[in-house]
Amino acid sequence: MHIYKQYRHSRNIIMEISFNNKTVLVTGASRGIGKATATMFAASGARVIVHYRNNKTEAEKTLASLAPGDHFLLCGDLSNHGELKKITETVWEKAGRIDILVNNAAMHINTPLAETTFDQWFDVWNKTINVNLSGTAHLSFLISKKMIEAGGGKIINVSSSGAFRGEPVAMAYGASKAGLNSFGQSMAKALAPYHVFVYTVAPGFVETEMSSPLLNGPSGDEIRSQSPFGRVAKPVEVARVIMLLASEGTEFMTGCIVDINGASYLRT
Ligand SMILES: NC(=O)c1ccc[n+]([C@@H]2O[C@H](COP(=O)([O-])OP(=O)(O)OC[C@H]3O[C@@H](n4cnc5c(N)ncnc54)[C@H](OP(=O)(O)O)[C@@H]3O)[C@@H](O)[C@H]2O)c1
Repeated sequence: MHIYKQYRHSRNIIMEISFNNKTVLVTGASRGIGKATATMFAASGARVIVHYRNNKTEAEKTLASLAPGDHFLLCGDLSNHGELKKITETVWEKAGRIDILVNNAAMHINTPLAETTFDQWFDVWNKTINVNLSGTAHLSFLISKKMIEAGGGKIINVSSSGAFRGEPVAMAYGASKAGLNSFGQSMAKALAPYHVFVYTVAPGFVETEMSSPLLNGPSGDEIRSQSPFGRVAKPVEVARVIMLLASEGTEFMTGCIVDINGASYLRT
């Protein structure tokens, strides 16, 4: 009895992060931050749905690398109306529930003004907004309805410092992430009464395929020097914050936008 009381007491003061019996959908988990997030959730007991768009080989590698569990692959283009519905239906057919949605998938294409034709600009703008903002919003709409029916859940959106600091050569990307920040805040207000909590993380540069042309190019050293650490983030450093937000006890943070940028871009 004494030990039980002590345990009950300690539960209020220690932090436990376990995702046993939780089902997590990570979009864009074939590589980069999504892969690191899927890996960490699986290692903490979650069942992980590894979503990807084209890159089946890499997605299969992610799946094979996860700690044992009832994980599975799920393919779908977030900019396609029918595929968004199919993603949601498949999750329910195969998993029957979803506790945590990590909206991580995104695309980034440079369109420097001086070197870009209007046709190229128009195409990249539409594609980027359709995937990064609209696709994420539509998937969140579909999944949050299911979370409401089930009595609750958590959604974590992966934004970017680019939403605040400006993206002079990838304006559609910056705009898509600023829109995502606003979307997350609106969803947080709309969904809290249903016990669905919505968080946003805003990484600075992270060592992944998306940023490798910049990090390995002439501006790489300058980018690394933006942080007093003299480096950019590793995918696992973003995954840890996502896990923290997805864990129990962070409900009152709903609506937040958390910077993960090694003090490379500070805002007040
Ligand atoms: N890397 C950075 O420096 C950085 C900085 C700030 C924020 N972020 C954000 O962090 C997140 C992950 O970035 P990352 O660097 O890990 O990216 P990444 O390595 O380029 O991976 C992108 C992922 O998104 C998926 N994806 C792309 N377009 C898609 C579409 N139309 N439908 C469905 N899935 C699609 C890809 O699937 P396939 O592999 O199948 O194509 C892939 O799994 C993104 O939201 C990004 O904006 C990244």
